[in-house]
Amino acid sequence: MRAVDLIRKKRDGGVLTPEEIRFLTLGYTAGDIPDYQIAAWLMAVLWRGMGRGELAALVEAMRESPRRLDLSDLPARKVDKHSTGGVGDKTSLIIAPIAAAAGVIVPMVSGRALGHTGGTLDKLESIPGFNTRLTLDEFHEVLGQIGCALIGQTAEIAPADRKLYALRDATATVESPPLICASIMSKKLSESIDALVLDVKTGSGAFMKTEKDSCHLAELMVETGRAVGKQVVALVTGMDEPLGRAVGNSLEVIESVEVLRGGGPADLRDLCLELSAWMIYLGQRAASVEEGRRKAAEMIESGRALRKFHEIVRRQGGDDRALDDFSLLPHTEHRRDVISSASGRVAEIDGEKIGLASVLLGAGREKKEDTVDPAVGIIVHKKLGDAVLAGEPLVTLHYNAAPRADAAAALVLESYRIAASSPEKAPLVRQVIGP
Ligand code: URA
Repeated sequence: MRAVDLIRKKRDGGVLTPEEIRFLTLGYTAGDIPDYQIAAWLMAVLWRGMGRGELAALVEAMRESPRRLDLSDLPARKVDKHSTGGVGDKTSLIIAPIAAAAGVIVPMVSGRALGHTGGTLDKLESIPGFNTRLTLDEFHEVLGQIGCALIGQTAEIAPADRKLYALRDATATVESPPLICASIMSKKLSESIDALVLDVKTGSGAFMKTEKDSCHLAELMVETGRAVGKQVVALVTGMDEPLGRAVGNSLEVIESVEVLRGGGPADLRDLCLELSAWMIYLGQRAASVEEGRRKAAEMIESGRALRKFHEIVRRQGGDDRALDDFSLLPHTEHRRDVISSASGRVAEIDGEKIGLASVLLGAGREKKEDTVDPAVGIIVHKKLGDAVLAGEPLVTLHYNAAPRADAAAALVLESYRIAASSPEKAPLVRQVIGP
């Protein structure tokens, strides 16, 4: 088999066999097929799509790893959550401790910043010392001790996604339902979980901009999970503006702690309660989603979720004093307000442009090899529907390099539309698919 023939076949609308998909995926993971050929194949997939059989073969090939994680010795149900990617989406940092505090075991394999969206691993690594690179044995041990651990793809777990994810990020091949589905489900199905809660984003800050496309992605993922006997629910949720107010790694850690302390922005808090309610329900720690909501709220009010987050940070090598004293988190040298020139109401925010502005500041990656600046980011002051006066700040940029801040400020201004009135806000949870 030759990679070039398979690229051509996909380019021309053909259907690859499971053996051909396996050849490309495993050949790339092993280093036998170069980046440029896989990049071309990914672009062909983005344009041509994949049939159900091709997708199943891709997920299967991407799950292949030298070892399979077995968590069957742990006494409680194992439930994870994954988001398809958003701007200011720090829910994992909040709901993993909530669900674990409620008695669910949460083995979480997360991703890094991708395109204009942030990544859980980059956020966690902004906490001094936090180690997301546990070995599988360490992962298992931490889960047994405290019920939750958060790591990235490793050579031992979902190794194909580690390479493909970075390549897709650098080649504009992220926005493909089968590629997103395979990326997420290969990680999640390698975790030895019983159930999975998916947060499928929809809107200007998501990879899928329309509810129809987001529901299609949600259905693909629910079907993929069910086919291997997992209970999967997908919540299709709005991403028409950044979630909460903070965008950028350490800024998002601060906002997460605020929610765990019982405060924080209402949209973020509500979504976290909803997602944790489903985790607690599927983890069989509540008899209904309604009871799951009450339990999730109780975990915050009692301080148990915040204490669990401290425990996770300490156990993964982080300095948990930074959760009490935010001055111990990385911070930037400069801040600058981006000012509105018009008065009215915020009628539209292009979430993707806000995400790209934070990438420009250094919060994400433009090339695969880039490192992120953990301190930079954006605090959003004006959200959809808010009244604005000319001269008021729309956002504050936290930055280290002035030329980057100029470019980010221009993008932020482009992303806002101020008008005499604003459309009614759509509900945050648009649809529930599954379980
Ligand atoms: N999150 C992932 O893990 N993979 C994607 O492709 C998109 C979001």
